[in-house]
Amino acid sequence: MEVFIKPTYEEMCKVAAKLIADVVNTKSHAVLGLATGSTPLGIYRELARMHREEGLDFEHVTTFNLDEYAGLPSDHPQSYHHFMHENFFKHINIPKQNTFIPSGTTNNYRAFCQWYEQQIKDCGGIDLQLLGIGSDGHIGFNEPASSLNSRTRLKTLAESTINDNARFFENRDEVPIYAITMGVGTILEARQILLVANGKNKARAIADAIEGPVTCMNTASALQLHPSTIYMIDTEAASCLTMREYYDWVQAKKPDVPQA
Ligand code: GLP
Repeated sequence: MEVFIKPTYEEMCKVAAKLIADVVNTKSHAVLGLATGSTPLGIYRELARMHREEGLDFEHVTTFNLDEYAGLPSDHPQSYHHFMHENFFKHINIPKQNTFIPSGTTNNYRAFCQWYEQQIKDCGGIDLQLLGIGSDGHIGFNEPASSLNSRTRLKTLAESTINDNARFFENRDEVPIYAITMGVGTILEARQILLVANGKNKARAIADAIEGPVTCMNTASALQLHPSTIYMIDTEAASCLTMREYYDWVQAKKPDVPQA
C-alpha cells in the first residue's frame, strides 16, 4: 500500500483526480468504480474541470457505483443516482448507458445484485475503485462485522452511519435503514484501489484501516490484502497514524527509488 498525506483537501482531490485521469487516458475502455459522500466531491469537480479545460474524454469510460439506498427512487434528492448525476455525470461526456448504479427500487434485490456483479465481470472488471471511508471504517456500506468475502447485497446500515448521513436529509427518520452495496470481496477484485479521506472524524478509522489488524470490525482494513491500494488523505485524517513520518519519508525519497 502507499500512503500520501496532503496538507489540504483541495490538494488531496487534485492528486486523486490526476490518478483517475491517468487511468482514463491510458486505458482505451477504462472501468471506474465510483463512490459517493462528501469526500469525493472535490475529485469530481476537478475531473469535470479537466474534461472542460483539458479535454479529458469519458466517452468510452464505464462506471460502477458502490452503493445505493434501498427504497429511494433515482430522482430522490438524496439518492446516489441523483448525487452522481448532479455532481459528476452531467458535467462530463459519459454516455448514460455506461453508468451503473445499484437500484434502490428493484423488486428482487437478490437477482439485481447478481446481475450487477455480472455486469462488472462482463466489462472486464474494475480498473480503479475510488473509495471513501465511514467513521466506523466502512467502505461502500460494508458495516463492521461484514464478511470480508462479501459480494453485492442488501445490507442493514449501522446506527452510527445513519447518524453520520442524517445531515443530508431533512430529519434522521428519513435516512433509509437498508442499502445495496458492493461487497468487500467485490471491491477487492478491482485492479487498483484509491481510498480518500479528510478531516479529524476519519482519523481513528484511517489508522485502524492502515495500521490495525485485518478485521471485519473495520472493513477498510481488508484493503491490506490488496496488492495495489493508495490512501490519499489529508493531515487531519492522518493524525492518528503511528508511522506518519515513515509515509512522508517514503514519498520524499520516491524520485531516488532504484528502478528495476
Ligand atoms: C456513505 C457511503 C460511503 C462513504 C461514506 C463517507 O456511507 N456509503 O461510500 O465513504 O458515506 O461519507 P463522507 O465522505 O460524506 O464522509
